[in-house]
Amino acid sequence: MLLFFVICGILLILIIIYSLIENKFLKISNYSLESLKVTPDLMAKRILFLSDLHGYRFGKDNSRLITRLQSLKPDFILIAGDFITKNKPGTMEATKHLMKDLCKICTVFYSLGNHESTAAFRYPEKYAQFLESIKKSGVIYLDNQSVFYHADGSVSLTYDRKAEENTGLAEDDNASGKVTSAGLKSPVSGNADKLSPVVCKITGLTLGEEYYDQHPAVLTKDLMNELIGEADTENYHILLAHNPECFSAYADWQADLSLGGHYHGGIIRIPGLGGLISPKYRLFPDYTSGAYKKGNTTMLVSKGLGTHTIHFRLFNRPEINILHFSNGKEISDADSI
Ligand SMILES: [Fe+2]
Repeated sequence: MLLFFVICGILLILIIIYSLIENKFLKISNYSLESLKVTPDLMAKRILFLSDLHGYRFGKDNSRLITRLQSLKPDFILIAGDFITKNKPGTMEATKHLMKDLCKICTVFYSLGNHESTAAFRYPEKYAQFLESIKKSGVIYLDNQSVFYHADGSVSLTYDRKAEENTGLAEDDNASGKVTSAGLKSPVSGNADKLSPVVCKITGLTLGEEYYDQHPAVLTKDLMNELIGEADTENYHILLAHNPECFSAYADWQADLSLGGHYHGGIIRIPGLGGLISPKYRLFPDYTSGAYKKGNTTMLVSKGLGTHTIHFRLFNRPEINILHFSNGKEISDADSI
């Protein structure tokens, strides 16, 4: 019996040591995404997708993470939320510095996870300072807002629910896709007068705590239309939506691609079975990592980069995702001339 406990103890120590080492090494995951809406301009872009850092640091001041991201030469980085931890306001400080460094590499789009939403509510002043700082660094913060990313790297605002409310515009104006003074093609960066062709549309969806409960509220296409307007039928539309649980709504809404995280890969990944546990301690949740398809919508779920509450990940290396786009069209002789 004693021998059994000794062996179990040694195994446990080995697992903990392995986990500590494993979580120092970033993993690169590549995804190929195909849609007829993908333009040659989008195919030419190098796009990274990150999620759930939770204030974790890879090296002093995140130097290892920054060097790795830099080496991948991205055109832009998409962040699907939870880069801070809601009960650790200090993580806002670390993220502020990281954002400053990331913006030196390329354009950064940041949408909110449940931790950003809760921190904004719990620490309004500190969060306002955080927000001011990251925006000053150049981060494009998408809180139920949409932007166009243009071929020359410029960005223009297309939908801003808050601006719309402030200007008192009717919802139908945006729902119908009409140009409104809420900001269609108002510049966020780049040359306002000479906007180059649209590469893709990017929307950051913010959901309330009720969508993260043990028995979550049900998100619908109509609610999404209220929050972020309708999906783009013309341009490839990327939806940054932290919570993969609402995949059905994202597919009904007709996102071309939705990017989420939240599950941290299921904490422990079991070969053949996937992620073990959800943040609400549900076993083998549906969407812990990888690509999922419903209708015309692909959802990618990142394993994330950090931890909170349970500071443990096993067989689940922190992940940087690279997105590769194609439109599936074969190059004809005429095209190649
Ligand atoms: Fe989350």
